[in-house]
Amino acid sequence: MKPIRKLMGNFTLIFAVSILSLHSFALCSLNSFTDENALISFKNAITSDPYAILSTNWSQNTSVCNWIGVSCGLKHGRVTALNLPGYDLAGTIPPHLGNLSFLRYLDISSNNFSGFLPHGIFNVSSLIEIRIRNNSLSGWLPSDMCDNLPNIEALDISANQLSGEIPPNIWKCRHLQELELSYNHFNGKIPSEIGSLSILKELYLGFNDFRGIIPEEIGNLSQLEVLSIPSSSLTENIPSSLFNISSLKYMYLYNNSLSRNIPSNMCDSLPNIEVLNLWRNQLSGEIPPNIWKCTQLQDLGLSVNHFNGKIPSEIGSLSMLRKLYLGVNDFRGMIPKEIGNLSQLKKLSIPSSFLTGNIPSSVFNISSLKFMDLSNNSLSGNIPTFHGLSKLEELYLFRNNFEGWFPSDVCSSNISNIRTLELFGNQLEGQIPPNIWKCTHLEILSLSDNHLSGNIPFEIGNMSMFRELYLDVNNFQAIISEIAYNSCYDQW
Ligand SMILES: *[C@@H]1O[C@H](CO)[C@@H](O)[C@H](O)[C@H]1NC(C)=O
Ligand SMILES: *[C@@H]1O[C@H](CO)[C@@H](O)[C@H](O)[C@H]1NC(C)=O
Ligand SMILES: *[C@@H]1O[C@H](CO)[C@@H](O)[C@H](O)[C@H]1NC(C)=O
Ligand SMILES: *[C@@H]1O[C@H](CO)[C@@H](O)[C@H](O)[C@H]1NC(C)=O
Ligand SMILES: *[C@@H]1O[C@H](CO)[C@@H](O)[C@H](O)[C@H]1NC(C)=O
Ligand SMILES: *[C@@H]1O[C@H](CO)[C@@H](O)[C@H](O)[C@H]1NC(C)=O
Ligand SMILES: *[C@@H]1O[C@H](CO)[C@@H](O)[C@H](O)[C@H]1NC(C)=O
Ligand SMILES: *[C@@H]1O[C@H](CO)[C@@H](O)[C@H](O)[C@H]1NC(C)=O
Ligand SMILES: *[C@@H]1O[C@H](CO)[C@@H](O)[C@H](O)[C@H]1NC(C)=O
Ligand SMILES: *[C@@H]1O[C@H](CO)[C@@H](O)[C@H](O)[C@H]1NC(C)=O
Ligand SMILES: *[C@@H]1O[C@H](CO)[C@@H](O)[C@H](O)[C@H]1NC(C)=O
Ligand SMILES: *[C@@H]1O[C@H](CO)[C@@H](O)[C@H](O)[C@H]1NC(C)=O
Repeated sequence: MKPIRKLMGNFTLIFAVSILSLHSFALCSLNSFTDENALISFKNAITSDPYAILSTNWSQNTSVCNWIGVSCGLKHGRVTALNLPGYDLAGTIPPHLGNLSFLRYLDISSNNFSGFLPHGIFNVSSLIEIRIRNNSLSGWLPSDMCDNLPNIEALDISANQLSGEIPPNIWKCRHLQELELSYNHFNGKIPSEIGSLSILKELYLGFNDFRGIIPEEIGNLSQLEVLSIPSSSLTENIPSSLFNISSLKYMYLYNNSLSRNIPSNMCDSLPNIEVLNLWRNQLSGEIPPNIWKCTQLQDLGLSVNHFNGKIPSEIGSLSMLRKLYLGVNDFRGMIPKEIGNLSQLKKLSIPSSFLTGNIPSSVFNISSLKFMDLSNNSLSGNIPTFHGLSKLEELYLFRNNFEGWFPSDVCSSNISNIRTLELFGNQLEGQIPPNIWKCTHLEILSLSDNHLSGNIPFEIGNMSMFRELYLDVNNFQAIISEIAYNSCYDQW
């Protein structure tokens, strides 16, 4: 009896196992069927498929797991990823997508999906990434958006036509590392709850219609590397807490209505900052001298504000600096000679302030410089030698009080890259150097409103790149129109 009972026992076990697997097979195939259903609904809602991706490849004869852009889990065979970026698909996103209950990655960026983002998508709790940037979606985000997205790490819905407010329950998306909502019509306030997303690394909110302040809670984001909220009508001060985010590499807050001073200890806690771009706001006060502590700074943009005082010489210690934009402010005093220490500087732009004195000769020694704009200040003295500026392409020194001789080495062979030379509105004397023809890339030469004299070198008429020549209000002897005509003739 014993062996039989044992056998019976085994038999029952096998029977039970097979019922179980039959059951789970049925369950699984039912849900795979749901996945297929969802994807077919998705396909049916496509109105334009110019590369015939879906119409030919998404064939019902094969498993959805073989369809272009679809990935399935190895064990359960359920759809885990839908990746169809940049296929120029147009249509709407059907609510059935919310039935893909194992979906982890959704990327349908750079297509032309329109209509609303179905609410059900935010119910797929397995989602890790949602990328729908650069489409034509409208409508708003549901207020319970983050109730069922415990795993979401990246949400990129920028460059659509979405509107409404950012749902304050955003804090429930606790694993977000990347939040990109730029280039939409989002409005209202930026919710302070964003400050609770403790592992957020990238925050892009720019080019929206936000009102009000930058919440100081954003300063709690201790892993943030990118803070980008340009062109969004933000007002009041930049919270000092933002300058406390030591992980920060990029801060873009340009083209808002931010005002008041930036804190004097600004760079005490920004050891990693590479780009600080605050141009076109209403910021005032002085540039904090502790700027030198932002040792990794490559791009400093403070133009078009109401900054005043002197330009601190400490800027000369920012040895990584490549772009320095300080123009259209109320700076007084001289250009610090320490700026000549910036051996990587490519762009130096400080037009339309109230700078006085000479340009330090060290500045004419920055061999990396491609672009220099110090126009419309009250700078004076001579324009020194050009020998050190072998890469210079554009030079704007117009509307100042420069005097003395026109620099004769301007077209010496080692700076022949110059394309634009605008020196009008000064008191320069002497002649245009006869070697001007060596500036073979010269397109625009503006010397109007100076005290230049002598002959205009006829070689100018033969310069092939030449487009614009301004020489009026000087003391030249030759007839300008002929030369201008020649250069036009060459061009056309
Ligand atoms: C669809 O595309 C995939 C990947 O390119 C390919 O493996 C599959 O055979 C295609 N199926 C059909 C029906 O064309
Ligand atoms: C898919 O199946 C249909 C019938 O269900 C058949 O007419 C068609 O030829 C099949 N296509 C492929 C590519 O096997
Ligand atoms: C999937 O979702 C749609 C719309 O959200 C719904 O109508 C449908 O019943 C769901 N279930 C299946 C199995 O497709
Ligand atoms: C946006 O998508 C269109 C196609 O719809 C594409 O041509 C364009 O390059 C995309 N733009 C960006 C910035 O990704
Ligand atoms: C996107 O679709 C809309 C209509 O839904 C259309 O007006 C627009 O021109 C399309 N854009 C592109 C880039 O195809
Ligand atoms: C989201 O899921 C919950 C519970 O699972 C359900 O009650 C709710 O209707 C779902 N919402 C959407 C928009 O599918
Ligand atoms: C977040 O920041 C606010 C204001 O800056 C502060 O009061 C609060 O304690 C911070 N919360 C956490 C969890 O650090
Ligand atoms: C600045 O922002 C306004 C909206 O706040 C926008 O209309 C304008 O185009 C932006 N300008 C630049 C240069 O980005
Ligand atoms: C900056 O951080 C320090 C220490 O982490 C803290 O004591 C201080 O209050 C913070 N300052 C601001 C303005 O958040
Ligand atoms: C910076 O420039 C000043 C004056 O031009 C000079 O005395 C100083 O040694 C320079 N510092 C460095 C670190 O190069
Ligand atoms: C020159 O600078 C002054 C003072 O900064 C400013 O008011 C004026 O608009 C500027 N002119 C030009 C042409 O930029
Ligand atoms: C300019 O550079 C040369 C060579 O690197 C150096 O000898 C000279 O002292 C520099 N001049 C200034 C004003 O920095």
